[in-house]
This record gives sequence, C-alpha cells and structure tokens, in this order.
Amino acid sequence: MDSLGAYIEQKRDAWLEELCEFLRIPSISTNPDYLPQIKKGADFALEALKRAGIEHTELIEGVGHPLVYGEYAGAEGAPTVLCYGHYDVQPPDPLEQWASPPFEPAVRNGNIYARGAADDKGQVMIQLKAVEALRAVHGRLPVNLKFIFEGEEETGGQAIDAFVPKSKEKLKADAALICDTALFAPDLPTLCIGLRGLVYTEIEVEGASHDLHSGLYGGVAPNALNALAWILAGLKTPDGKIRIPGIYDSVQPPARSERASWRRLPFDADRMRAEEIGSVALTGEKKHPLERMWARPTVDVHGIVGGYTGAGAKTVIPGRATAKVSIRLVPNQKPQEVLAALEQRVRELTPPGVKARVVKIHDAVPLLIDPNNPYIAKAAKVFSQVFGRKTVFVRSGGSIPVVALFVDALQVPAILMGFGLPDDNLHAPNEKFSISNFFRGVETVARFFEAAGQV
Ligand code: BES
Ligand code: MN
Ligand code: MN
Repeated sequence: MDSLGAYIEQKRDAWLEELCEFLRIPSISTNPDYLPQIKKGADFALEALKRAGIEHTELIEGVGHPLVYGEYAGAEGAPTVLCYGHYDVQPPDPLEQWASPPFEPAVRNGNIYARGAADDKGQVMIQLKAVEALRAVHGRLPVNLKFIFEGEEETGGQAIDAFVPKSKEKLKADAALICDTALFAPDLPTLCIGLRGLVYTEIEVEGASHDLHSGLYGGVAPNALNALAWILAGLKTPDGKIRIPGIYDSVQPPARSERASWRRLPFDADRMRAEEIGSVALTGEKKHPLERMWARPTVDVHGIVGGYTGAGAKTVIPGRATAKVSIRLVPNQKPQEVLAALEQRVRELTPPGVKARVVKIHDAVPLLIDPNNPYIAKAAKVFSQVFGRKTVFVRSGGSIPVVALFVDALQVPAILMGFGLPDDNLHAPNEKFSISNFFRGVETVARFFEAAGQV
C-alpha cells in the first residue's frame, strides 16, 4: 500500500465518526420547519472544508438555502476542478419502516444506515476527505479546487440556479466533479454520462365552492377528486405511453453504440424487479428497461390530497383536490415546452364544472455528456485502478438539476463520479452507504485530483 492508501486506512474510525456527526443533522430541505437544521448542515459543511485545509471558504446567503463555497488556488499552473455535492436530504418518512432511526446513524453489515448516507452527505464527505488525505500525504494539493455545496438539491435548487449564471468568473474551472450518483453494480467502477430532466408540478382542481353532502348533491355537483382522477388517468396508458400530444417529438433516441454498450452491462431485469422494486412485474413501454429508465420520458403521480381520508366513511363531495405530478425528461426535451404541453393536455381532459390549474414547482434540464474528453478519460482510468475493473459508462434516470447549468453556463465538462449502490434505498426508508465504497471513493477522488493536476 502506498502512503495515500495507508493514510486513508489509518483515518477509518475518525472519518466514520465525522460522517456520523454530519448525518445526525436532519437537514431536510422540503420542509420549512427544518430551516435551522439546514443552517446547521451548511455550517457543518463549511467547517469541514476548513478542516480539510481549504483556506478560502464562505457561506453564500441570499435566495433559498445557503450555498457553501470553498477555494484552493495553490497549485500554480495546474487546472481547476469545481466540486459539487448537496448537504440537504429528503424527508425520512415513513418513519416506522426504518430499522434504526434515520438521524441516528447505525453501522450494520458493512453499511452505514441514515438518511443522507449515500444521497449525498457520504459523498460530500468523500470529496472533503480526498482533500485532507492529499494534503496530509503531500503537504499540498496537486490541482486547484473550487467547492460548491448546496442545500436544496432535493427541492429544485433555486439558490444555486440563481448563483451560477452570475458567478461565471468565480466558478471558472476546467472540469466539474459531481459526487451524487451510484455504481451500476457492486465493485463496478461507473461513470454516469446522462441524467434525466424533470418538470415537477401540482395539478389543482376546484369544483364546488365548498364540500357538499354526496347524497343530496351527488349527480349534479362536480366532484373535484373524480375530475382529478380523470385528468391523471388521461396522462399515461397502463402500458407506459404518455398521452400528452407532442411529448415524444423532440426525444432523441440513444445512439446505436450507446445502446450496444448498455446490453453489455451486467443487468438482470428480473433481479431488479424482485430485489430493488419488489413488484410482480415491470411496467412500461416495449423497450429495454434501461432505455425506459434512462432515455424515455415518464409521468408519475407522487401524491394526491383531497376529500376525506380519516377513519370510517364520510359521504362528501370534495370541492377541491390536488395532485403532485412529475414528468422525467430526456435529451432534447425542454422543460418549458413539456410544461406547456402538459397544461394543454390538462385543459383538454378537464371535465365540465371544474377548473384545473397546473402549477410548476421546479424543473431540471436533461443532460447527456460526450464521454470523449480528457477529464472523463482520467476519471475512468483512476476509477479502474482503485476498483480493479474496467470502468463502465451509464446514464441514470434521476436528476441533478444544477449539472446542466454547469455545462451550459460554465462550459465545463461534467464528471459524474458516484459511489452509491443500486440498493442504497435513496429517498426511502433504511437509506445506507457502503463503508468500503466510502473509503474507495476517497481514494478514487484523491487519485482523480492527482490525474487532473497533470496537464
Ligand atoms: N442524487 C440524486 C439523483 C441520482 C441518484 C442520480 C442516483 C443518479 C443516481 C439526487 O439527489 C436526486 O434525488 N435528485 C432528484 C432531483 C429533484 C428533486 C429535482 C430526483 O432525481 O428526483
Ligand atoms: Mn443527490
Ligand atoms: Mn436525492
């Protein structure tokens, strides 16, 4: 083992304890009640940057949740890597399904269980510890670094969306490193070169001016929930076809070579169905499941609010109902065009007697990265070295809204180097992060910084 490996080994317990400290902060970004915890999460990340030896750090406050910024400019003549992660997390509910409490990190069979373990605090910590390790071993860093950690990735990222376009000089870099994705399979080094985009909306339906007795008025009064159910049912067929006119017009099919590379991946649809999803069947279009998840748009309903949901029966005609609905986008779909098409479709589907409105909550532009660039090549090389296998290139069906902005506004190549696993239970109960991936992640990122520093 070389000195970097030895240093990482020796820091095992201390770093895990530090990660646990980060994970104990319930920095949930969706719920405004947790604003003080968001602040705590930001402060922790800021202090961690300082501890890693990044001299210039600042908390950038303005719209939305604070951005944590750090800069190291001591590697004269070397390129600059802009590092990104997020310190906010998803809500932990349903709480009763956690084997140990979400904000009391617990180690079981080689994993650390906590909300945010893989998404994304464990991976923010990987970047910080890579810096610390390089500093400790070499006394300096091999590359110039900028860090930007946000606290509202999980809710659409308003602060960073506003900050990036007006901070092009400050964020100027040669490559962006994003640690917020996963390996395709355990032990398989994986670079992600595509993300889906997103249009997240609420569809609100208003019928009667107030709730009504369903016996007295049923048959004449519009029912907001019936109308909402009708609208939602009209958005997609059971076999996965989206029924929004024009939605597929700009969808760019994957290149033959990329499709061929997907077929070489160790993918077992039935294993995914049984172990990750836990359903009797996969649903969707008659296309390869990886294409369905990575290169096709989809519509999902996330929640419906309306009517009576308490115990027993209440005969009521609800006057209002709302649903949270998102559409995942693929290259070349434009969030604005898709939103307009959805609005038009909802108008078409709205039954008599009710008014329906589509309110956009947030959106994200889809991303496809050309893997032919020197930083991706360096990343693939070090990833392969640390994991002892050839790096694969995949896309993901998820979204990280700011990445497309880095690429478009800052004109940098994005390197999505993540260390989660497919069964890490992101956004779900019992989220976990593999401890061995944490340490291999630190080594991989450190070696990437070294490789990136060599021009
Ligand atoms: N880190 C995830 C996205 C992800 C996970 C990409 C695994 C690739 C592999 C990110 O935190 C996330 O959950 N994004 C949200 C974005 C949204 C709320 C704007 C998503 O995809 O739902
Ligand atoms: Mn994430
Ligand atoms: Mn997430």
